Amino acid sequence: MRKMLIAGNWKMNFAPKKAVKFVDQIKESIDIKERDVVLCVPYVALQPVKDALKGTSVQVGAQNVHYMDDGAYTGEISPAMLDEMEVPYVIVGHSERREKFAESDTTVNLRALRALKHGLCPIICVGETQKQRGAQRTEDVLRKQVKFALDEIKPERAEKVVIAYEPIWAIGTGVTATTAQAEDACAFIRTLLVERFGKEIAQKIRILYGGSVTPKNAAELFSQPNIDGGLVGGASTIPTFDEVVKAGL
Ligand code: 13P
Repeated sequence: MRKMLIAGNWKMNFAPKKAVKFVDQIKESIDIKERDVVLCVPYVALQPVKDALKGTSVQVGAQNVHYMDDGAYTGEISPAMLDEMEVPYVIVGHSERREKFAESDTTVNLRALRALKHGLCPIICVGETQKQRGAQRTEDVLRKQVKFALDEIKPERAEKVVIAYEPIWAIGTGVTATTAQAEDACAFIRTLLVERFGKEIAQKIRILYGGSVTPKNAAELFSQPNIDGGLVGGASTIPTFDEVVKAGL
């Protein structure tokens, strides 16, 4: 059985002081044993938020990571650094990184590989644009993104991988994929995982849905057989995040 994972992605919101204040406000309500709960916060808030979460089962995650351990990469943060800070999760290949910071399928793969090498769980984001969906290219896009992202990942490390299906047209728009659209895409991703790693491992890999998840739609989304939780943007930055975390329980 896959344990459901609810990951908040704060994006570029909450400086450290505000982050800690918010975490102090919500931490009790999101500390549940039935699900893994992760807050992916800005780098500068990682340690303060980690400290604020002490004594709870809620974990922290970063929102990106470089693919080298150190070197002349001004402005970057390496997996070795996150490892030393005992940050267990990192988002990789979010569509905002792909679109606004020119990240490619190749570097997404390198980031995931290096994160895994350091024992981090990469939350690898994939998803199509509205135009691609309109042209019935969703499966082609997912196939390419998933195939590239998983290149050279060893089967023994694959269980740490999390895939987040985030249709770009549903991110921050208030337009959620229908439950059927989300489940179909996640089920398709599961078939790709079976092709790549075999059935046993594929059944252990968590696939999240992301894109305008709210307390209203979360329970139905999370009830689907191939949706193992959510990657939640806006709704993770407001006090009702606990309603998403507990949706359907
Ligand atoms: P929203 O939940 O705000 O649509 O953002 C989704 C997202 O991009 C999570 O990574």
